[in-house]
Amino acid sequence: MTDLIATAKAHTNIALVKYWGKRDETLILPWTDSLSLTLNEFYTTTKVTFSETLEHDNFYIDRILVDQKNNQKLTNFMNVAREKIGLTYFANVESFNCVPISAGLASSSSAFAALAGAIYEASGVDYTLNDVSKLARRGSGSATRSVFGGLAEWKKGSTDDDSYAQPIQETVDFGIEMIAILLDTTKKKVSSRLGMQTTVDTSPFFNEWVKVVEKDMQIMHQAIEKKDINLIGEIAESNAMRMHSLTLSASPSFTYFNADSLLAMQEVEKLRTNGVKCFYTMDAGPNVKVIYDRKNRETILQELSKVFGRDRLVVSQPGPGIEFIK
Ligand code: DP6
Repeated sequence: MTDLIATAKAHTNIALVKYWGKRDETLILPWTDSLSLTLNEFYTTTKVTFSETLEHDNFYIDRILVDQKNNQKLTNFMNVAREKIGLTYFANVESFNCVPISAGLASSSSAFAALAGAIYEASGVDYTLNDVSKLARRGSGSATRSVFGGLAEWKKGSTDDDSYAQPIQETVDFGIEMIAILLDTTKKKVSSRLGMQTTVDTSPFFNEWVKVVEKDMQIMHQAIEKKDINLIGEIAESNAMRMHSLTLSASPSFTYFNADSLLAMQEVEKLRTNGVKCFYTMDAGPNVKVIYDRKNRETILQELSKVFGRDRLVVSQPGPGIEFIK
């Protein structure tokens, strides 16, 4: 049989209501729903070639072959995928990132969304984007949302089959934007996988978090409906800080903040005090992302440039869902 080949491109997403904690570590089923904005600036393009002649999977990330001892997570993922699509062939996977890897800019979200899309497209089976979203989830929880553009919501579900994302607004019709402040783009010290596991197991506040997210999801939906960027920003900021307070309350305690993260948060607060509405959020790394209405872009860039330098600021608009490249 000839090789089965497809290429898919997916963008990263930033959670406005965070996913932090799994009920099922193997199936990657979360404790809560979550909601995100897909970004146009950061993405992964992945080509998958299933071939009868291969004796194992090979993974190339940015043209570098991943060595055997580091590819267990990817091999496990390919085994899950093979079972779902009913194929036994091994594959060559070539992935190109336009994202600083593992720096809390959610490279795993675009990576597993693109890989899941390319696998389904190459396989020749009938599939829906929900199938892609479910498979992406098995690689990395946040990837389930990167299948869709704009604003998307991951419904937690309770089985492998009903835990996937759905679009809220694929094309966002209001001026929400984000500036990523690149404070440290080296690999993160505590992976989100380990970080959230430690939190679920040891934070005395974890049950409260589950309740908080339920409320935040409700208000976030209302805020989106009203196109109220300030309310979206306020909820996103407090939700992120509550997530980060879980890490501090875990045993052993840990944090993703560094000194520059705190400085960036203070700068955002200073802008706010001076009447420029903007809000911050952070993921499993020290980089800070600023949410605002695009009409305030130039003022915010000007002020943040004075402290961090313009070359460390990346402006992102809402981005598209998964695309297949012929
Ligand atoms: C803070 O999706 O990277 O970005 O499912 O273990 O691969 P795994 O975790 P991952 O965690 C993302 C955590 C977050 C919040 C979010 O994106 O919702």
